[in-house]
Amino acid sequence: MDKVRIGVFGGSRGRVAIRQLIDIPECEVVAICDKYEPTLEKCRKVAAETNYPVDIKYFTSFDEFIEYDMDAVILANYAHEHAPFAIRCLRSGKHVMSECLTMSCMKEAVELIEAVEETGKIYAYAENYCYTKVRWEMRRLYRSGVLGELQYAEGEYLHDCSPIWPQITYGERDHWRNLMPSTFYCTHSIGPILYMTGLRPVQVVAFETPVTQNMHNLGSNSGTFCMEAITLNNGAIMKSVHYHIKTNRKSRYQLNGTLGGCEDMSGGQIGVYIEQPGHNGDGEHKVYSPEPLIAEAEASGHDGGDYYTTHYFVKSILGDKDALEKIVDVYQAVEMCMPGTLGLKSIAGGNIPIKCPNLRNKEERDAYRNDTACAFKEIAGDQYITNNLQGMPEIPDSVFEEVKRKWQNGIGG
Ligand SMILES: NC(=O)c1ccc[n+]([C@@H]2O[C@H](COP(=O)([O-])OP(=O)(O)OC[C@H]3O[C@@H](n4cnc5c(N)ncnc54)[C@H](O)[C@@H]3O)[C@@H](O)[C@H]2O)c1
Repeated sequence: MDKVRIGVFGGSRGRVAIRQLIDIPECEVVAICDKYEPTLEKCRKVAAETNYPVDIKYFTSFDEFIEYDMDAVILANYAHEHAPFAIRCLRSGKHVMSECLTMSCMKEAVELIEAVEETGKIYAYAENYCYTKVRWEMRRLYRSGVLGELQYAEGEYLHDCSPIWPQITYGERDHWRNLMPSTFYCTHSIGPILYMTGLRPVQVVAFETPVTQNMHNLGSNSGTFCMEAITLNNGAIMKSVHYHIKTNRKSRYQLNGTLGGCEDMSGGQIGVYIEQPGHNGDGEHKVYSPEPLIAEAEASGHDGGDYYTTHYFVKSILGDKDALEKIVDVYQAVEMCMPGTLGLKSIAGGNIPIKCPNLRNKEERDAYRNDTACAFKEIAGDQYITNNLQGMPEIPDSVFEEVKRKWQNGIGG
């Protein structure tokens, strides 16, 4: 392969990927698809501003886009529709990098895994929160063994999206961000812990807070903040919290093992505590700023995370062993997402524990082949679980009209 020919599906968040790809000499952006013309126009502008020499083809129809001559597709379409589009791309011979999230229900998880296994194509999950210089260092420390065996972990994705809600939901009642339950957007908090440790979830118990007035006024009836207590396959437990909360703290991660712990601190610093075996209580404390894995990543969004996703995806397609080890593969992508998918059942059942299967085992898949339970009606069918678990009154049209007005006037974001 001379250069990897890549298409981008979804031109909003997709523009971040386009900017990253333009700087990678081993690939070419050859096609972009978005049904919304003004978004395609913004993509044309990116290509023009960078004097991109490739003649990019622009599509509004996915059916036409997928027929174009490409080796790989980056999915940046609606977050609850990734799995079916990923499967279509894989089965038409294309490698896939998927934005967050992996899937909407367990049926899709099984189908996605089997599409990757049957086609042998690369599937990379763009969980950019795994890849900052501090989180690379946490992964290195854990895998070196100096922290011992994991006992406890915390993953926090703290993001109050209310100030930008008009610009990311456009006043659409059925936008996935308005319909998603509190448990849904879970991989920014869970993903880095699984990526650092290589562990997988075996059980989830989930909790949510009622919708806040400000989120209700913006069009959401879902619980505003979610906490998941997850048991991992070595017996360790982790706390994952995510979404809208008022705080000046950013995302944070913590690992505690039998010999010590480490923590993602503010300002690009890591705090580490390590004991030698048998030296209870007299370990060494250190705080330092680790070196980035790749220096040029530091200029990219999400503390460098946006660089690594596209970089390792392209290198993986070219067969680079290091990159193949560094991407989030389909099994781990499903495992990062599963506590959110199944967490909805936990809350709906009154915070009950729900088993997380090991879908790496073919024998465990059949029980989930027809499990469409989720909060998106067109996917769930008769297994639909409402996102409005607190039974709030229906949101009037006037709320969405006001949000739309703000979006059109560039207010919020
Ligand atoms: N990793 C991160 O840090 C991060 C940050 C922001 C968004 N995201 C992810 O990026 C994805 C896109 O989010 P977004 O913020 O751009 O908003 P979005 O979901 O509103 O935008 C999706 C885009 O895809 C287009 N699209 C959807 N279905 C289509 C179809 N069938 N045919 C043609 N075009 C279609 C829409 O017109 C829209 O422009 C989501 O999955 C989101 O989770 C990730």
